[in-house]
Amino acid sequence: MKIILAVVGSPRRNGNTHILVSKIAEGARANSAVVEELFLGDFTIRECDGCHVCWKMEECIKNDDMQAIYPRIIQSDVIIFGTPVYWYGPTALMKGLIDRFVYFNCPQNREKIRGKSAVIAVPFEEDNAETARPVVEFFQKCLDYLEINLLGKIIVPGVSTRGEIRHKTERLEEAYELGRSLA
Ligand SMILES: Cc1cc2nc3c(=O)[nH]c(=O)nc-3n(C[C@H](O)[C@H](O)[C@H](O)COP(=O)(O)O)c2cc1C
Repeated sequence: MKIILAVVGSPRRNGNTHILVSKIAEGARANSAVVEELFLGDFTIRECDGCHVCWKMEECIKNDDMQAIYPRIIQSDVIIFGTPVYWYGPTALMKGLIDRFVYFNCPQNREKIRGKSAVIAVPFEEDNAETARPVVEFFQKCLDYLEINLLGKIIVPGVSTRGEIRHKTERLEEAYELGRSLA
């Protein structure tokens, strides 16, 4: 049984990212995966300031919600990273989370994440698929560096208002099938 961590990196609840990530989660649950949703806007994640104590002590000393999130990352088999495009990048919430993955860059902690799998889910307003390229490359490079396998991606252009993605039924079906394939 797969354990999946579904990260919603948009601060907008019931927005396009939330719906897209939930659809992937729904597909995974239909195939018996255990899925936990992490709505990043609910958490306080301070910026990584490069103190690198985590490399010496195997622990991050920042007293914030990452202390509860690290174990959830570590126990998961697959992580769904969902973020809308914000100024041709991921949201600050998502970037803040990924910055804290520096914790996994020392040999002792790398063992805790090496070989996991991930998918990315990226909705955005413009109709040009090129708009998402920097975000996709950001994840490709970070995941590659972290030795996490990128299994798939759902990129959805042309959605702007909250929940507009509900009209993109084919893309949501694609998201559901991606979820099923993860379990
Ligand atoms: C701060 C901010 C920056 C944005 N930057 C872009 C952008 O560079 N390109 C784009 O196509 N859409 C951009 N958008 C639009 C969002 O990507 C779009 O509305 C998306 O569907 C929001 O997803 P959500 O409902 O999950 O928050 C931006 C929106 C905000 C609030």
